[in-house]
Amino acid sequence: MAEIRRKIGSQAGPSLAPEYNFVIVEGSDDILGECSLHAVDYRNRVGQIGICIWKEQDRRHGHASDAVGQLLAWARGCLGLQRIEAWVNDGNQASAALFVRLGFVHEGTLSRRYFALGRWHAVRVYGYLTTSPSGFAAVSE
Ligand SMILES: CC(C)(COP(=O)(O)OP(=O)(O)OC[C@H]1O[C@@H](n2cnc3c(N)ncnc32)[C@H](O)[C@@H]1OP(=O)(O)O)[C@@H](O)C(=O)NCCC(=O)NCCS
Repeated sequence: MAEIRRKIGSQAGPSLAPEYNFVIVEGSDDILGECSLHAVDYRNRVGQIGICIWKEQDRRHGHASDAVGQLLAWARGCLGLQRIEAWVNDGNQASAALFVRLGFVHEGTLSRRYFALGRWHAVRVYGYLTTSPSGFAAVSE
């Protein structure tokens, strides 16, 4: 909790930050998880999204969908981003299904991109164009 407060505090202010972290709250102070926008590239107007609903029992209630939807609107409306990426570890079916359902498109898979628990993992890259009415990225562009 102290680390989340530190991160959020460091991003508050008049200047644009390279990353933003948010907590997902139900009611007034019941924190369900975190959502982030990171690796923000203002020149190309691109950012990467991350999301976690901490407890298993809080999942499958639409909280991640709500949070990602709000973050997409904010990233477009306030930061002017035109493209959001979700990098998902190969095999993370919940996350992949979440982003596809919200209009992200699987644009490619990066082999041996991430090292964890003693082995290499592929990472699937999903793209969402905030400027497209449907949100769908045109894979051929
Ligand atoms: C991925 C994650 C954020 C989804 O959060 P959530 O609040 O459960 O998501 P939602 O309730 O909004 O689900 C929206 C849709 O995503 C899909 N989905 C979510 N969890 C799923 C699962 N375990 N298996 C298959 N599809 C799933 C479904 O289509 C779901 O709609 P439905 O419940 O009507 O079928 C959550 O499982 C999580 O925190 N996982 C661990 C952290 C993580 O992997 N983060 C992503 C890193 S990129």
